[in-house]
Amino acid sequence: MAFNQQQFEKALQEVKSKLSLEGKFSEISLHTFPTLPSTNQKLWDLLKEGAKELTVVIAEQQTAGKGQWGRQWQSASGGLYLSVALAPNLQASEAAQLTLCSAWGIAQALRVYGIPVFLKWPNDLILLGRKLGGILTETRVQQGQITKAVVGVGINWSNSVPETGISLQSFCEEELCLGVTSLENLAAIVIQGLNCGYQRSLDQGIQILLQSYLELLDSLGRQVIVDGNPGIITGVTPTGELRVNLSAKEVAFAGDPEQASVREICLKPGTIGLGYAR
Ligand code: BTN
Repeated sequence: MAFNQQQFEKALQEVKSKLSLEGKFSEISLHTFPTLPSTNQKLWDLLKEGAKELTVVIAEQQTAGKGQWGRQWQSASGGLYLSVALAPNLQASEAAQLTLCSAWGIAQALRVYGIPVFLKWPNDLILLGRKLGGILTETRVQQGQITKAVVGVGINWSNSVPETGISLQSFCEEELCLGVTSLENLAAIVIQGLNCGYQRSLDQGIQILLQSYLELLDSLGRQVIVDGNPGIITGVTPTGELRVNLSAKEVAFAGDPEQASVREICLKPGTIGLGYAR
């Protein structure tokens, strides 16, 4: 079914009021399409033509949806596929902040609607231990400074999902989702949530936002094995690396009993797989 702009505009106002955001953000400029190769790609094209921050592109389906690590993002009709343009004042090395604050903002907004979303480091939205959606942030950089960013979000609504995925529409048929009844509603919640997370990171800084991100992180305190060494996940750095405390056994000096010591390492996204609960 075609994306209904009128229904979306109405939902946007309702979400603003529910999240107490009235008057907080400038207006978004929405572009919708029945089919695109990728909403991220289309938004980069629009930015080249002069589109501004908070331009949003939504497609009903994508033929070449992009996922993390160069993967394809299956984008059949029924899912939510959208991209938002941002113009952050960040160094290239701080790009991960955009994913962290967007993921937190979207999860938090969905939680206001009774959907208990958690986060899987660094960019997954998780519901009941399964993947509900993901975020792909792309940036353009000049002299080490991010000039423009596109944050792309894919969320499973009524599209079919793989074994490790979950569809929000099916979840909401069984649980109370406080009015999340359509793709237009969901799009409004996701855009306002993303906006909210981004503004919060601008207003309060990434350290404060990270504390909230960690409260929703599904793997905090989980045991992992890194290069054969056992460790515990203790957090995420402001540049988006996973903090792990490795317990290493060391012999301090001859004759002393073996002592356990702890060493913190930081892992870059993509260097460790955390899997799904089921
Ligand atoms: C992931 O791999 O988890 C991130 C997936 C991001 C997919 C979205 S769908 C809308 C936007 N356009 C794209 O081509 N990709 C992102």
